[in-house]
Amino acid sequence: MIRVEAKKEFLQKSLFEFLRTKFPKYIYHGEIFLKVENSNDIYDVKFIKDDNSKEINFNYSDSRKVHYEIKRRLFDYFVENEKDFDTSYGILSGVRPTKLASKIFSKYPPEESFKILKDEYRIPISDSKFLYKIYDNQSNSGEIFSKHNYNIYVNIPFCPSRCAYCSFDTAIYNKNIASDYVKDLISEIKSFKNDYKAHPHSIYIGGGTPSSLEVSELEKIIKLILEKFGKPKEFTVECGRIDTLSVELLKMLKKYGVNRISLNPQSFNEEVIKRLNRNSNLELENWFNVAKDMGFKTINMDFILGLPYENNESIISSIKKAIEIGPKNITLHTLALKNGSKLFECGYENKNDYRNLLKKTKELMQGSLYEPYYMYRQKKTVMNSENIGYAKKGYSSIYNIVMMEEIENIIGFGAGASSKKLDEFGRFKRDINTKNLKEYIDKRR
Ligand SMILES: C[S@@+](CC[C@H](N)C(=O)[O-])C[C@H]1O[C@@H](n2cnc3c(N)ncnc32)[C@H](O)[C@@H]1O
Ligand code: SF4
Repeated sequence: MIRVEAKKEFLQKSLFEFLRTKFPKYIYHGEIFLKVENSNDIYDVKFIKDDNSKEINFNYSDSRKVHYEIKRRLFDYFVENEKDFDTSYGILSGVRPTKLASKIFSKYPPEESFKILKDEYRIPISDSKFLYKIYDNQSNSGEIFSKHNYNIYVNIPFCPSRCAYCSFDTAIYNKNIASDYVKDLISEIKSFKNDYKAHPHSIYIGGGTPSSLEVSELEKIIKLILEKFGKPKEFTVECGRIDTLSVELLKMLKKYGVNRISLNPQSFNEEVIKRLNRNSNLELENWFNVAKDMGFKTINMDFILGLPYENNESIISSIKKAIEIGPKNITLHTLALKNGSKLFECGYENKNDYRNLLKKTKELMQGSLYEPYYMYRQKKTVMNSENIGYAKKGYSSIYNIVMMEEIENIIGFGAGASSKKLDEFGRFKRDINTKNLKEYIDKRR
């Protein structure tokens, strides 16, 4: 258990997140207690871990940034004294380390940036170099990103079955509910007042599993969006579950200019997949070839590292198989155990030793000419948390970059969809539709 006591709520939360990412096993086992007291600029920090304790006292005048100083001091103490401590990304525990790093890379040359990231945030040089690669790949993607551009996200919260690891707000496909949902989605899109003159930079229909809708229902949504906003440069429709595919569906998507789709194995280990309440991947390569022959420019494949009944070898072998098949995008997630997923509710714990696995996957991907072009970290993952999008040169996804780096406007439609509007200074205002499907539908009756 991890406990933190501090007068200010922000400080308490920030230090808790820090300890949680540095000692993930202590969420379930062992005792960590951190207490911060201060009188004006003098701080007393007491850290107790199992039977060891440490007191740190220091003077600091910038109370808004004191959380960084406490983390730096604790980090240095951990480096000297702790073995089971995760050094990755230094004192950063947020979702988007690339955002902070990119600001630094855009101002200073790489070597100087690495030094700043080490001195101020304790980021190991290997992580800084990886962040720089992502920054460099985004900068050289050939895309011009602008706070005047906008992108569209449409959420389809239906799936053919519920996968055991998934905590997303999705429902099992039901014809009547889906049909009500599509009607409401269409009325939400129609009533949106569009102030943008230009076409969208990208459109992304995700979920859930958009391809679980009837082809004619999905077609209505696509047609309306294109009529209202115009043709985008990149148009993604997630078709993650191959048990929802048909040639008719792919033909329809092609007809409307969809140029990026996802076919997601998660793992090529059939034993693993069966136990997750997902369908077999034996037909996935055939579907990949059908879609490729139809001319979809980019096909993405999602994987999750750390699923039950996997080990380092089986994970690497799945990734090697994907590389052999050769989609333009491969996205590697690390398993997160979250409320709302069957695995979490059953108390699943992953005790495998995954040290070095991420390093190996990075080497394997880059050795096969897949370049990392976006990444984010999540809480509650079973190993050092990183979700990384890889792409062959020239195939980075516009939507994934703008969504992760928060550099363009996003208009979200559907239950749980979030919209982000940027102001003159690049700050954004977020607006989120209710995640609850029933509430979303009822609100429009
Ligand atoms: C929003 S889901 C939609 C995917 C699609 N419905 C499918 O099942 O293929 C996007 C991706 O998030 C990843 N994902 C979902 N749950 C996860 C979890 N608990 N931990 C890590 N990654 C997860 C999976 O790789 C999944 O393909
Ligand atoms: S992983 Fe995909 S198909 Fe499975 S429940 Fe989650 S969103 Fe649905």
